[in-house]
Amino acid sequence: MTDPAFDADTLRERALTTLTTARARTTLLTSCVEEPDLTAQHSPLMSPLVWDLAHIGNQEEMWLLRAVGGREAMRPEIDGLYDAFEHPRAERPSLPLLPPAEARHYASEVRGRVLDILESTAFHGTRLTEAGFAFGMIAQHEQQHDETMLITHQLRKGPQALTAPDPDPVPLFTGPSEVLVPGGPFTMGTSTEPWALDNERPAHRREVPAFYMDTTPVTNAAFQAFIADGGYDTERWWTPEGWAHIQQHSIHAPLYWHRDGKQWLRRRFGVTEVVPPDEPVLHVCWYEADAYARWAGRRLPTEAEWEKAARHDPASGRSTRYPWGDADPAPEHANLGQRHLRPAPAGSYPEGESPLGIRQLIGDVWEWTASDFLPYPGFQAFPYKEYSEVFFGPEYKVLRGGAFAVDQVACRGTFRNWDYPIRRQIFSGFRTARSTGDA
Ligand code: AVJ
Ligand code: FE
Repeated sequence: MTDPAFDADTLRERALTTLTTARARTTLLTSCVEEPDLTAQHSPLMSPLVWDLAHIGNQEEMWLLRAVGGREAMRPEIDGLYDAFEHPRAERPSLPLLPPAEARHYASEVRGRVLDILESTAFHGTRLTEAGFAFGMIAQHEQQHDETMLITHQLRKGPQALTAPDPDPVPLFTGPSEVLVPGGPFTMGTSTEPWALDNERPAHRREVPAFYMDTTPVTNAAFQAFIADGGYDTERWWTPEGWAHIQQHSIHAPLYWHRDGKQWLRRRFGVTEVVPPDEPVLHVCWYEADAYARWAGRRLPTEAEWEKAARHDPASGRSTRYPWGDADPAPEHANLGQRHLRPAPAGSYPEGESPLGIRQLIGDVWEWTASDFLPYPGFQAFPYKEYSEVFFGPEYKVLRGGAFAVDQVACRGTFRNWDYPIRRQIFSGFRTARSTGDA
């Protein structure tokens, strides 16, 4: 590897920093509420916070202490409790889980031992330790659960427990609403990003015909126009499954929204506020995103279109790590890492824009794509089938780009997320596209 950002000393330092950052976030998310809120079921869609906490420690123990470090199991009797496949989320509150103090103690014991192993492990030799992959994987795993826990905090009823400054105000975005992404092949996925997960691999060429892509995510104001135009009452904008779903569950606005006279309000981390018109719409399911796009005379981008828009540099013909190039994300590039507890207004982050002028592809809101979650040609499950492989298929849709809730270690131009098309408690929004032949 010639890229100096990927040398072993840098990666070891990065492993320590990212594991430490993740634990600070986990600690905050599990200490900002009282004990009953840690063990409660805030939604059948989510685990109790105390499950996430011990599961974070248990995965770290399995991969870094046992698999990499060759250590014995610390508490073999708890493995089953924290196996995500043994117990569905709705069932977890009734399990004999470690109480909060014990869960904290367990996770911190594991971490103490991991730091010794991090010092003494060579970053080459096995696939698991090559470039510190297992450490990067576990830092990403913890941060993914920190996002999951933030979803639980948002679902939780009751007063505000978390606060963060709002994004800095930005001048109104005056660029075009869409740009042409030229047709031709590009490199999708990666074989060189050291901590890319199995589903992002391998790099391969994809032919993507020319298309137009929105320069910003769809805003609350635009989505309100869809609602005001009877979007939720007009069957022809919806897929049959989407129409049946919104009828059955009486869905007529994004999750957390309610109408107060003439205006829309929303609940956000315990506070009720007017829905801000310029912010990207948040908490919509795939069916709502797809229906909006149809109403607007457009469509959702495919996953390949999204990645080409985010990574293809027309000047060099190369695919970069991020829309702005190969540099790691900095605060001026993107709204990531739970620094803010909301998306920034559409058109923010000029320094994070792509060469074609597309903004906010990374951070702010996860973006639904038209595509099912499928393996790339040459995919190999690593290091376990249950991370990606068992989820491949048409029942999951791909989301791209990360959200304000996502840490940079778990976000890049190649990163793939997936969920059911009915899900909207996740930090999901979207942007639209159209083929060049369309009016
Ligand atoms: C990639 C977000 C779908 O939360 O189910 C966490 C991440 N995998 N622990 C999930 C994950 C194992 C995963 N998603
Ligand atoms: Fe997990």
